[in-house]
Amino acid sequence: MSKVILVTGGNAGLGHELVKALASKPDVHKVYLAARNEGSGREAQDTLRAEGLGNVHFIHLDVTDVATIISAKEAIEKNDGKLDILVNNAGIAEGDKDQKATTVEVDTVRRVLETNLLGLIQTTTTFVPLLRRSPQAVILNVGSDMGSNTFMSNSGKDLSHYVAYSASKAAVSSYTIALAHELKADGIKVNVITPGFTSTKMNSYAPSGKTSAQGAAILVPWAMLEKDGPSGLFIGEDGKEFAW
Ligand SMILES: NC(=O)c1ccc[n+]([C@@H]2O[C@H](COP(=O)([O-])OP(=O)(O)OC[C@H]3O[C@@H](n4cnc5c(N)ncnc54)[C@H](OP(=O)(O)O)[C@@H]3O)[C@@H](O)[C@H]2O)c1
Repeated sequence: MSKVILVTGGNAGLGHELVKALASKPDVHKVYLAARNEGSGREAQDTLRAEGLGNVHFIHLDVTDVATIISAKEAIEKNDGKLDILVNNAGIAEGDKDQKATTVEVDTVRRVLETNLLGLIQTTTTFVPLLRRSPQAVILNVGSDMGSNTFMSNSGKDLSHYVAYSASKAAVSSYTIALAHELKADGIKVNVITPGFTSTKMNSYAPSGKTSAQGAAILVPWAMLEKDGPSGLFIGEDGKEFAW
C-alpha cells in the first residue's frame, strides 16, 4: 500500500532525517515535510529533492497556529483524500531558560506546553478525520525519556531537571494513552517514542548525542507499523517498552 505521511517539524534535526528516511521507503507515496518557517521548509524540501527524493513536499504548518494546521489538512485532503501516518515531532525545549521547579517563570512553561502539548493535540484532532480514511493509520508522538516520571524519579542518576520540558513530554505520554484507547475501535495505532539523546539545534548540538540520522532510524519502524502492530506503548531508544 502506498502511504501518505506528515512529519511536523520536518525542516530540521530528527524530523528532517525522518522525512528523508521515510521518503526513501519503496512503499511511501508522499511525505509532507511540515515546517513553521516557509523559507527553511522549502530549503529542506529542495535539499531532499536534489538527493532524488521527489516525493517530499513542503507544507506550511505551525503547531501553535490553528489556521495553518487547518489549511494543511485541507490541502492534503484535496490532494490525497487521506493521511496514513502522522508523526508529531515538532517541539521546543527552551533549555536556555531557567527551568528549576522553584524559580521557573510560568511563561516559560506556558510556551513549552503551547508547542509540545497543545500544538500536538491540535494537530492530532485536526488530522484524525483524514487518518480515519486510511486502511492502516498510525500516529507516532515524539516524546522523551525526560517525560517518563519513572525514569526521572527512579533512575538513580543525577539528572538535570527541566520542568517545563519534562512536564510537557509527560503530558504528551498521558495524551497518547487516551488517544490510543479512543482510536482502538478505528484500528489506528498510536504510540509515543523517545529517540534518546540526539545532537540537534534543541540542545545546541551537544557533542555526546547520537546523530539525527541515528535518532530518526529509531523512529522509522514505529511510523511504518503494520496493520496488526502494537498501540498504546511508550517506546525507548532500544525499541523496547519504556517506563511511563
Ligand atoms: N534531541 C534530543 O535529544 C531529543 C530527545 C528526545 C526527544 N526529542 C524530541 O524530538 C523532537 C525533534 O527535536 P530535535 O531534537 O530534532 O530538535 P530541533 O532540531 O530543534 O527540531 C525541532 C523541530 O520542531 C520545529 N518546531 C518548533 N516549534 C514549532 C512550531 N510551533 N510549529 C512547527 N514546528 C515547530 C522546529 O522548527 P524551527 O526549525 O522553525 O525551529 C524544528 O523543525 C522534539 O519533539 C523533541 O522534544 C529530542
